[in-house]
Amino acid sequence: MIVAIDGPAGAGKSSVAKACAKKIGFKCLDTGAMYRAVAWLAVQRGIALDDDAALGKLADGCKIEFRHEDGNPIASGISIDGHDVTEAIRTTEIDKAVSPVSAAGSVREAMVDQQRRIGDAGNYVIEGRDIGTVVFPNADLKIYLTATNEERAHRRVRQNADRGVGSIDYAEVLEDIIRRDEADKNRGNSPLRPADDAKVMDSTGIYIEDIIESICTYANIVQEGGKVE
Ligand code: DC
Repeated sequence: MIVAIDGPAGAGKSSVAKACAKKIGFKCLDTGAMYRAVAWLAVQRGIALDDDAALGKLADGCKIEFRHEDGNPIASGISIDGHDVTEAIRTTEIDKAVSPVSAAGSVREAMVDQQRRIGDAGNYVIEGRDIGTVVFPNADLKIYLTATNEERAHRRVRQNADRGVGSIDYAEVLEDIIRRDEADKNRGNSPLRPADDAKVMDSTGIYIEDIIESICTYANIVQEGGKVE
């Protein structure tokens, strides 16, 4: 069974996906981390971020691995071609580089292939931008999680502060969130939008725990063969 959680940057997808996966005993896949890892490698190799062909070759040939401690279904780290990039993919530089890299059709093809292979192998909560629309259009449950720009920027600042990586300047984070939304929504390949059959949830002013509770309830209903209205 696949639970797809899509939505814009900073909507709380990561925290919600991890907590839901833990509660319902599913594995969890962060597809944004995969695009970030490819962006990191492209920057390291000095590949021009508008060179679709070179980016596609890189994405096709690289090896992305998630690290799971003691069989924990929630990954604690990510590596690409043997480099642990868990923290390196959260910098302001990669926040910027990931938009053009994830807009390249050739990169998306390679990532979607990998994501389908991973998801087909078990019960997964998968978070991203196009999981319910493109990667798993037949996902059993689709959530589109959103919140106002300001709330998302505040959350991202708190998350960066907790991680000790990335900007903690509210104005800079807000600007980056708005810029990435525009890029994600207006790109030709798999633009960010809710799937027609997605449950749209606005988390502005709502405790994230309540969102998690609702999604787990929906997942249980679907698992028991019911339909979420
Ligand atoms: O969720 P995130 O902020 O870590 O994602 C990083 C970037 O990757 C984001 O700007 C858009 C892109 N992305 C995507 O295009 N498709 C996905 N399924 C996941 C992320």
